[in-house]
Amino acid sequence: MKNQITRRKFLVSGGAAVGAVAAAAGKNPQNGVRAEKRPADPFLGTGGAPFTAGAPCLQAPGETSMGVSWAVSGLSKGEVEYADNPGFAGAKRVKGGGYGLVPIDVSALQVRLTGLKPATKYWYRTITTPFTDYRNIYDAKLGSPVVSPVHTFTTLGASAAGGFCVINDTHAQWKSFAMTVRKLKEISPAAIVWNGDATNTTQDKATAVEIFLNPPVEDADWSADVPVFFESGNHDFRGSWISKKEEVVLPRDPSERRGDQWDLKWNFAVRLGEMALIGMDTGEDKPDAHPKWFGLANFESYRKAQTAWLEEQFARPEIAAAKFKIVFCHIPLFAAPDSSAYPHDGVKIDPQDYAYWSRECNALWGPVLNRAGVNLVVCGHQHRFRFDEPDKDRSWAQVVGGGPDLARAAQGGFPTVVEGRVEDGRLRLVVHDVSSGRIAFDKLI
Ligand SMILES: [Fe+2]
Ligand SMILES: [Fe+2]
Repeated sequence: MKNQITRRKFLVSGGAAVGAVAAAAGKNPQNGVRAEKRPADPFLGTGGAPFTAGAPCLQAPGETSMGVSWAVSGLSKGEVEYADNPGFAGAKRVKGGGYGLVPIDVSALQVRLTGLKPATKYWYRTITTPFTDYRNIYDAKLGSPVVSPVHTFTTLGASAAGGFCVINDTHAQWKSFAMTVRKLKEISPAAIVWNGDATNTTQDKATAVEIFLNPPVEDADWSADVPVFFESGNHDFRGSWISKKEEVVLPRDPSERRGDQWDLKWNFAVRLGEMALIGMDTGEDKPDAHPKWFGLANFESYRKAQTAWLEEQFARPEIAAAKFKIVFCHIPLFAAPDSSAYPHDGVKIDPQDYAYWSRECNALWGPVLNRAGVNLVVCGHQHRFRFDEPDKDRSWAQVVGGGPDLARAAQGGFPTVVEGRVEDGRLRLVVHDVSSGRIAFDKLI
């Protein structure tokens, strides 16, 4: 963790400036935040320490809902105020959580806005209020509210405009991540898909907060005005804390799925103009019975449950009617039989091997994608850009994004932003090499 960077446009109450989010989340206090001012247990309140709130991150976007998550430096409650006009006429204020008790936290707050209008621009701001003292609810004391600058988002839907961008395998490599989010800001798509391996091995919440909400880069507010769909990669299932990642990355709005699909928390199928965007989770990269998982892997039944969900999504009239159908998942679904990747299909239990592509997901999902006439599958995982044309057995092209290691850029391992948009009735796919600024690939699908 590197928190020395002066990038954060944090909003501060009660004193000095930056750097307190990491401090409260268990990292080293710095930049004027004096540790002795806080209680040893952060859940007792912020004490006299300065309080900061990070830039909001738009997550789990839908046609009628939008998630907002943000980092905080200490015990606090959060609300989002929003309106469909810049003057905030008729604005609503929404608390975190659902019914009953409103959640509070010492490192991340989350609010979901629901009942929104599709394809509509909204203006919003976060309001974060620290508990300076919470030894007892009767004697608790609030500090001054911190109000964020006004940001905007536009809900999705068949009449929404704009394209998507995909990032993958960012792996908390901040130098390449800074280049990646700079490119995203330059393109300013309607939505971003973070297609897995955002993390490495996550042992505590502070690490997840840094990666997903508070990255040490100049453009730390990269998702304050463009919403992000998240799909897990294999690394996003690793570490002793990571099973709690929904405390930092909001799952989809529960109203999108039935009770028996409760655990399909991040799968999405949403229209963006003429495109249907569909997110799938390929899970870990070795079989469930692999000894490396210590009995913790239960992905084979997860992939099967997603197959049934996927078939149902393509039967939804608005998804079926989309001119272009694009699927996002972390591990590639295809390798050419004559390619060096082909033997590494993720099926064998082999201590030296793992999936370069998923034969299991291909067998389960491939026929469904063909029947639905999917045009494009966007993947990551291999840390090397690749494009596979459709063939007689496969309706879909496959594009694989690059990796975060700048030392491998010259060998084809450059970090990418994969851009998709409809142009003159065709789907245009552009792959940006963000390490050099060049366009690595440009094709009408
Ligand atoms: Fe990766
Ligand atoms: Fe991966």
